[in-house]
Amino acid sequence: MAPYNASLRVWRGDVSGGGLQDFTVEVNEGEVVLDIIHRLQATQTPDLAVRWNCKAGKCGSCSAEINGRPRLLCMTRMSTFGEDETVTVTPLRTFPVMRDLVTDVSFNYEKAREIPSFTPPKDLQPGEYRMQQEDVNRSQEFRKCIECFLCQNVCHVVRDHEENKEAFSGPRYLMRQAELDMHPLDTKERRAEQAQEDNGLGFCNITKCCTEVCPEHIKITDNALIPMKERAADRKYDPVVWLGDKIFRRK
Ligand code: SF4
Ligand code: SF4
Ligand code: FES
Repeated sequence: MAPYNASLRVWRGDVSGGGLQDFTVEVNEGEVVLDIIHRLQATQTPDLAVRWNCKAGKCGSCSAEINGRPRLLCMTRMSTFGEDETVTVTPLRTFPVMRDLVTDVSFNYEKAREIPSFTPPKDLQPGEYRMQQEDVNRSQEFRKCIECFLCQNVCHVVRDHEENKEAFSGPRYLMRQAELDMHPLDTKERRAEQAQEDNGLGFCNITKCCTEVCPEHIKITDNALIPMKERAADRKYDPVVWLGDKIFRRK
């Protein structure tokens, strides 16, 4: 592919407001959107704010919206778009803008702190933990999360409803509850119920938008949220499951 000039539209501004600005930036073979943003920064807008670290899809820092779709800047190839197409890059919409493409994602850190941490049995020391491979495999998928917050950003429960933010932890942290609820060595009781009562699991109407944007292809809805909804409902409404839980509750 010969180098070409792409039309780039980038949101610039800060907490007091801003708007889209148009630029023309050179694109070379194999480049990703982050390369183009860096070239823009190097040649035309040295003060453009953009957050990134690894440029390998692993740190989760470069999340933004490209043509309205939440994506990682470093994992989106320019070849995804036509050479005559305008590529519009805007900050994550669900979180407050700090400057240009950088948003304040502290909502997510607050929600992370609300999830009780892994609570192993008191009599087991690190190094003595043993799990079935089947249990390891189940939670392995969730451990691939790079905390890019694209799922948190796209979820309609908070995307257009600032008022829901207090009551809703978002798919990433509901998934964390699900992961620990499935963990055979976690002794914290009633995680699914807590997800329902305290973390807003009931707000989720399984639209799967979170799953669609996850760059790690984690099946957030099918493998974490739906099973946890079922467990919460079983324990609440099925007397046999309720009794079994009472009798066989892990010590
Ligand atoms: S499936 Fe649930 S958590 Fe995921 S985007 Fe939809 S409402 Fe939000
Ligand atoms: S679950 Fe996927 S989309 Fe959500 S924060 Fe983790 S890696 Fe990002
Ligand atoms: S720069 Fe690390 S995920 Fe994009």
